[in-house]
Amino acid sequence: MCGIIGYSGVENSVPKLIEGLKALEYRGYDSAGIAVFTESGISVIKAKGRIANIEKILDTEYQNLESVCGIGHTRWATHGEPSDRNSHPHGTDRIRLVHNGIIENYIQLKKELSACDYSFESDTDTEIAAKLVDLNYKTSEDPLQAIKTSVEKLYGSYALGIIFDKYPGKIYAARKDSPLIVAISDKGNFIASDIPAVLKYTNRYYQLEQGEIAVVEKDKVTVYDECGSLIKKDIMTADWDVRAAEKCGYEHFMLKEIYEEPLAIVNTIRPRINDGLPCLDLPGLTDDTIKAFKRINIVACGTAMHAGFIGRTAIERLARIPVKVEIASEFRYKNPILDKDDLVIIMSQSGETADSLAALRLSKEHGAHTLAIVNVAGSSIAREADSTLYTWAGPEIAVASTKAYTVQISLMYLIAAKFALCHGKITDDEARQYLHALIEQTPVAVENALKLSDRCIQISEKISGAEHLFYIGRGIDYDIAQEASLKLKEISYIHSESYAAGEMKHGTISLITEGVPVIAICTQDHLVEKMISNIKEVKARGAYVIVICKENTHMDKEVADEVLKIPVLSDLFMPIPAITVLQLVAYHTSVIRGCDVDKPRNLAKSVTVE
Ligand code: AGP
Ligand code: GLU
Repeated sequence: MCGIIGYSGVENSVPKLIEGLKALEYRGYDSAGIAVFTESGISVIKAKGRIANIEKILDTEYQNLESVCGIGHTRWATHGEPSDRNSHPHGTDRIRLVHNGIIENYIQLKKELSACDYSFESDTDTEIAAKLVDLNYKTSEDPLQAIKTSVEKLYGSYALGIIFDKYPGKIYAARKDSPLIVAISDKGNFIASDIPAVLKYTNRYYQLEQGEIAVVEKDKVTVYDECGSLIKKDIMTADWDVRAAEKCGYEHFMLKEIYEEPLAIVNTIRPRINDGLPCLDLPGLTDDTIKAFKRINIVACGTAMHAGFIGRTAIERLARIPVKVEIASEFRYKNPILDKDDLVIIMSQSGETADSLAALRLSKEHGAHTLAIVNVAGSSIAREADSTLYTWAGPEIAVASTKAYTVQISLMYLIAAKFALCHGKITDDEARQYLHALIEQTPVAVENALKLSDRCIQISEKISGAEHLFYIGRGIDYDIAQEASLKLKEISYIHSESYAAGEMKHGTISLITEGVPVIAICTQDHLVEKMISNIKEVKARGAYVIVICKENTHMDKEVADEVLKIPVLSDLFMPIPAITVLQLVAYHTSVIRGCDVDKPRNLAKSVTVE
C-alpha cells in the first residue's frame, strides 16, 4: 500500500526523496510528505494529493531546501481520510515517522498516550505509533531502545522509517509483515518499500526480515534482530534495469505491459521446458511429491485469483485433480480443511499482498505444501513458501495487472501438464504436443491479438458512455469474464459485472434494459450454440451485444451488434489472446473516459494491509 523512502548520504536528500516517492506512487497516492534534517531541526512538508503538490510547496515555500538526510511517504489511506493532517510523516518536534501497515491496537494505545498528556492532530493509526516512540524516546533518550520498547506494544503490521532530532544523519527502519529494504550506494544509503524507488542509484539492497531494526547512515548500515543482537545480512542484487521502470514511449505503463505479454510468456515458460516436457526444477516439488497430492487449493486476491480460475480449469481437465480457488481474505479466517495431502498455491504478482501472505502462513500451519507463484524476486511470499515458481514478466508498474495475469495463466498451463504427467493422465507425447502449442503458438496469437487494437478502440468508443456493463461466458470463458470485468471497472470506473451466461436468466437478466452493453465471450467450440441462446436472451431485452470469438467461428449477423474475431488456439489456451483484447478494450475505455489509467482512484498496486 503506502510507499516509504529514506536517504542518508553526501548529496541533497530532497530530490532523491521526491524521485523515490514518484517511483513508489503506484503503491498509493492519497497524500505525500517528507521530513528532513535542517539546521533549525526537522522540517516537515506534507499535503493531500499527489507528490506534485509537495513539489509545489518546495518550489514556493522552501526554495533550494538542502538536507543530507530525510524520509518520505506516499499514502494509501486505511485509517483517516486522505487529508493534509492525516498525511505522513507523523510525530513531534523530537521524532518523525512514516509507516506502511495497520496498527490494530491503536485505539487502546491512544487511550494510554492520552493519559500521558499526549494530544493528536490526525485520525490515523500511524500517529499513535509515532507518539508511542516519542514517549519512549523521551524516557530513554535512546532511539534503538525507544523503537524496541514501542514495537513490542504494536499489534498489526508495520514498515517504519523514523528520524530523531538529536541523531541527524541517522534513519531507523523496522518491519513486521510490511516490506522494507535497505539499499546501499557509494553516495549514501536508502530505505524503501520497494526497489524501483532507488533503482536510479543502486540495485544492491538488504531485505529486512520480520522484527529486524536497521540504523542507516551515509556510509554505514547496522542491523539488529528482534532480540537486539547485531546481525550480518547478505546483499541482494535486483535484476531490474531502470528502463524496465520507464514507459519507453508508451502513453501509459499499462499499455506497455500489455504489449510485453508475448515476451513475458516466452521468458516465463521456455526455461521450464526441457526436451519438450515440463520442468519445474523445484527441490521441494519432486515428481513423487506431486504424485502424492490429492487436492489443490489456489489462494489469491483480485487478478491473481482470476488467474487461479484458469488454473483450476486446466489442472482439473488435464490432471483430474480436484482444485479449489479461494479468496485469500476469506480463506485466512475460515479454518480451512487442509493436511499433508494438500498443495496450496499462493498466486501473487507483488508477493507482498497481506491477505495472501497470511493464507500462506495458515496453510503451512495446517501441514499443507505451499507453492508460491510470484513476480517479484525476494518478496515475502516467495521467501516464506515451501517452493517458489517465479513469473518472469518483468516489473509491472501499472496498478491494474495485465502481463502478470497472462504469465500466471501460462504457468498454470505448464503446471497442469506437469501434474497430469505425474498422475499418469497424459503421455509424454501428449505433453510435448500441449507444451509446443503453449510456447510456439500462444505468443504468436497474442502478437496477432495486439494487432486488433483499432477494433478494440472502436468497441471502447461504443461502451465508454455506459453506466453498467456485463461480461458473460461459459466454462473457461466465464473465468476470463471475471478478469475482464475487474479490468474495466478498476480503470474506467464503469460498473461492470461478470456472469455465467447460463445463470443470467435466473435473476440478473432483470437488469438488462435498452442499450446496456453485454460483452459475450464465446471462444469454446462446444459451447458456441449455448452461448448464442444466451446472447439472444439478452438481445431480446435490448442489450447491445459485443461477441468475442475465434476467427473461424461462424456468427450470423443478427446475433450481435459487434463481433471481434480473435486468433485461433486450442480451446484451453483461448483465454490468452482473449484477455489481451479485453485488456485493450478496458485500457482504451479508460483513456476515452479521461481516467488515470496507471493509478486509478482508491487503488494501490500492492495491498500490504488487510
Ligand atoms: C489487479 O489489477 C488489481 N489491482 C488487484 O486485484 C491485484 O490483482 C490484487 O491486489 C492481488 O495483488 P498481487 O497479485 O500482488 O497479490
Ligand atoms: N495505516 C496507515 C494510514 O492509514 C498506513 C496505510 C498504508 O500502509 O496503506 O495512514
